[in-house]
Amino acid sequence: DTIYVLNGPNLNLLGMREPEIYGTDTLDDIAGGLDDRARELGLQIDFRQSNHEGHLIDWLHEAQATGAKAVLLNAGALTHTSLALYDAIRSIRTPVIEVHLSNPAAREAYRHHSYVGMAAKGTIAGFGAQSYALALEAAARL
Ligand code: DQA
Repeated sequence: DTIYVLNGPNLNLLGMREPEIYGTDTLDDIAGGLDDRARELGLQIDFRQSNHEGHLIDWLHEAQATGAKAVLLNAGALTHTSLALYDAIRSIRTPVIEVHLSNPAAREAYRHHSYVGMAAKGTIAGFGAQSYALALEAAARL
């Protein structure tokens, strides 16, 4: 089974981007650690990042078309703004798990609303790079 791991805007800069909030692991570090855990769980990871909303929407559609078991989605700031991502998640049957490094609920008010969370199966947030591993465990059990 394949799990898509989709990352949105500015997450390519992870490691140097506000490390006091997001930690010093790069996205490549996260992808590597996740690959190891996936192998133990008998899963395959398809790990991607884009700064473009439309790419994320296309990849959500693709996840369903290719029969992916689940999608882990860290949509970055699009989480809080994108009705199009909400619609895309609602448009597919593939379960989507919302992931965040930080805990948006404990941050600025403008991060409290999540379009992704309104459509997602569930959310894992606030555990840094570990959020991805925890979400993968959840996906494996679906
Ligand atoms: C984030 C949280 C968002 O509010 C923020 O815009 C990001 C990263 C996280 O993983 O903590 O870009 O999704």
